[in-house]
Amino acid sequence: MARVAVIGAGTMGHALALVFALGGHRVRLTDSNPETLARAQGLMEKALATLAAGGEAPAEWTSAHLAQAVTRHESLEETVDGAELIVEAIIETPEAKRALFERLDALAPAEAVIASNTSHLDVFPLIPARRQRKAMIAHWYTPPYLVDLVDLVPGPDCDPAAVDGVEAMLVAMGKKPVRLRKFVPGYVANRIQAAIGLEVQHLLDEGVASAEEIDAAIIHGLALRWPILAVFAKADFTGLPLMQAVLANRSYSPPPVRGRSETLDRLLAEGRTGVLAGAGYYDWSGKDPAALFEERDRRLIALKRALRGIGTMAGLERRL
Ligand SMILES: NC(=O)c1ccc[n+]([C@@H]2O[C@H](COP(=O)([O-])OP(=O)(O)OC[C@H]3O[C@@H](n4cnc5c(N)ncnc54)[C@H](O)[C@@H]3O)[C@@H](O)[C@H]2O)c1
Repeated sequence: MARVAVIGAGTMGHALALVFALGGHRVRLTDSNPETLARAQGLMEKALATLAAGGEAPAEWTSAHLAQAVTRHESLEETVDGAELIVEAIIETPEAKRALFERLDALAPAEAVIASNTSHLDVFPLIPARRQRKAMIAHWYTPPYLVDLVDLVPGPDCDPAAVDGVEAMLVAMGKKPVRLRKFVPGYVANRIQAAIGLEVQHLLDEGVASAEEIDAAIIHGLALRWPILAVFAKADFTGLPLMQAVLANRSYSPPPVRGRSETLDRLLAEGRTGVLAGAGYYDWSGKDPAALFEERDRRLIALKRALRGIGTMAGLERRL
């Protein structure tokens, strides 16, 4: 059992506190906004209830159990007192992160590991020199209590043993860390997702297909085989000569990076910002957003369970 401090209790922070608590660790959670810190309790309880109902959290985990495993603290000093792992999950601005790392340098135990959840920032130049030996990125995906991938990126001067330690801790928690050799914005999964994002918005803007039709192509085509074959095992089944021919024929060229999408601009001008607003690409009106998030989580749980039974052929069997 490690003592874990989670800094930031927003969309990611409260969920990460829950994940580490369920992983058997003692968690202290803080946020610079007291209202966000207070709200975190209810959000963790709701997520825990969904997980327990789906058999993904022990049934004996009551709210009282959770309140013991995750304590909330308004003071940063108290939060990091005795911490072995510090999970940074505050807002994504270099200024805020730099200021926090400087405070952590003054307050945190000398041997504490600092693991940033940054989505895109190269945080390592923002971290004081004497903390570099224990500085890394551990980047999670939402909701982190159901999506198991964690991108692990050692800082340039990070002690490999510190990364080994965090990797082992994550594996013991049932997570699937993927260790990268160096920082690259977006890591692996988000870079691929960004490339897909460019393509689908291009297809929509060009009127090639509707959002529903593009989603159908993903669900019935790509997504169906991804859990079994991912991309390289799929290439092995296709045969590598075809991959070579596609490259040689220049059959595909990516859409131009224009920095905008007419469809997206129109939807946003109409206030269609997504599920929370009742509409985005789809119409979600008349449905309670909390119920929609719960439904998403229930389906993810069912899918994970099925996939565990099916297994993968992508050379990752041990990782399922
Ligand atoms: N939202 C996602 O899907 C997602 C996924 C992976 C990674 N991330 C990354 O995780 C981090 C947090 O993202 P989020 O979506 O949870 O943001 P969020 O805005 O929901 O939460 C950030 C929280 O940090 C708090 N905060 C700001 N400065 C602070 C400080 N100095 N000390 C303590 N608390 C402070 C804010 O009050 C806020 O509650 C970002 O780096 C983001 O890039 C987000």
